[in-house]
Amino acid sequence: MSFSVTPSILSFSYLVATVLFIFSLHWMNDPKTARRAVMAGTLAMTIAVLSTWGQEIVVHHLWIVIAIIAGFVVGVPLSMVPMTAVPQRTALSHAFGGIAAGLVGTAKYYLWLSEGAEHLTRFRMVAILIEIILGYLTFTGSLLAAGKLQEVKWIPQRPVTYVGQNIVNLGLLLAAVAIGVFLVFFPAADVAPKLFSVIIVLALIFGVLLIIPIGGADMPTVIAILNAYAGLSAVAMGFVLDNKLLITAGALDGSSGLILSIIMCKAMNRSFTNVLFGAFGQVQQAKEEGEEQVYKPETIEGAGHVLEQSQLVVIVPGYGMAVAQAQHKVRELYDHLTKLGISVKFAIHPVAGRMPGHMNVLLAEAEIPYDDLVEMEDINADMPQCDVALVVGANDVVNPAARYDETSPIYGMPIIAADKARTVFAIKRSKNPGFAGIDNELYFSDRTWMLFGDAKHVLGELVKQLSGGSGMH
Ligand code: TAP
Repeated sequence: MSFSVTPSILSFSYLVATVLFIFSLHWMNDPKTARRAVMAGTLAMTIAVLSTWGQEIVVHHLWIVIAIIAGFVVGVPLSMVPMTAVPQRTALSHAFGGIAAGLVGTAKYYLWLSEGAEHLTRFRMVAILIEIILGYLTFTGSLLAAGKLQEVKWIPQRPVTYVGQNIVNLGLLLAAVAIGVFLVFFPAADVAPKLFSVIIVLALIFGVLLIIPIGGADMPTVIAILNAYAGLSAVAMGFVLDNKLLITAGALDGSSGLILSIIMCKAMNRSFTNVLFGAFGQVQQAKEEGEEQVYKPETIEGAGHVLEQSQLVVIVPGYGMAVAQAQHKVRELYDHLTKLGISVKFAIHPVAGRMPGHMNVLLAEAEIPYDDLVEMEDINADMPQCDVALVVGANDVVNPAARYDETSPIYGMPIIAADKARTVFAIKRSKNPGFAGIDNELYFSDRTWMLFGDAKHVLGELVKQLSGGSGMH
């Protein structure tokens, strides 16, 4: 390159990129500014890559071009996955971040070792070891999490637990730390390169062992925790490479992952240690035969009449709305009801769907006014005054067992109080359970009527019914 980035241009570019990263995260807080957030993040990353690349010390340009092309080839198809696959896509991104940090740390160790032991200062060794342990465990852990969420056949979906599991995990981690301490003091000992590879293998195994006991409802939280690990390993990589932008960007990434996992833990009423070591989310055994309870189906016509008579309708969207891509039909129903003078609100559970903000994103796509999206804590007080709770493909987030059934995998998770509404209409395709694999007594309650079918189809029929056309019966 004829033009080279001077140290002062580099510092200024890094400062601009850092500020953009911070604003990007801030704008992510609200669906109204989320698009701007993505643009700011992309711009920040472009500035970071170009200014780093443009330095005089960078001489192997071909490798960088190859890496950028490889990034495009993998990244563009990954960005096109359906919304429902975003959690596993996110986990894959964390895996890439983890392996990148792990490989850079490994390369740096062997490079400095070959250049002379004086390069391997204690500070650098501590940073490298944190980087590789977190990087490699994030890699295998995130790959496994993505595989579980994608329901890859040969990966067990249920939590795998065995006696002494936590002791084995902790033992493995302690062994890696003990070898690490040795390497900090004797980084160039004869046995050191071999021990370094042992730590890599232990970290890779630890990532797998960390994820196998996690199941069902806790997976999103664990993905956010892996996000935090990937960020922390990037911070350590920043210290290894003496790159300030990596340190700040990694810290932002790590802390936002941590904050997100804390928010999710609160939303599901879990503590961190419970999520990581409790093997929650286990799928409950199916009920004994003969115990099956009875669903009361309702016709579109009947549901339409009740909706027309209502004053307050609360729509509770869940994962099924995303699967059916029913958000636009929801919007049509919203328009019809509001035209009739009926107040319509949306009850948004923080972990409805399969990723944070899933329902907000879909409803925003259908241009439903933000003011009518009400957070769980705010809507629950109004539920007893609600004439109809229309549950659109939601299950776990409206399951009253979370309040009292200590054996339930979702026990303690705050729920939307749909059961307090005067009438509940629940749209789903079958009698199948939701994500946590458990029955939902809301569907058997005296006040609940089922509208079986694909959410988009059922809502379309309801809209027809309300607009005077004929609905299905
Ligand atoms: P779920 O409990 O997963 O229930 C979704 C329901 O939608 C199912 O009962 C399913 O029943 C129905 N459904 C699926 N496709 C449908 C379609 N085309 N039309 C109509 N209904 C359809 O969803 P939820 O209530 O939103 O709860 C979310 C769960 O996912 C929680 O357990 C949460 O912890 C977990 N989770 C959340 C996240 C985040 S961060 N949001 C990430 C991963 C996991 P049928 O099959 O009978 O139709």
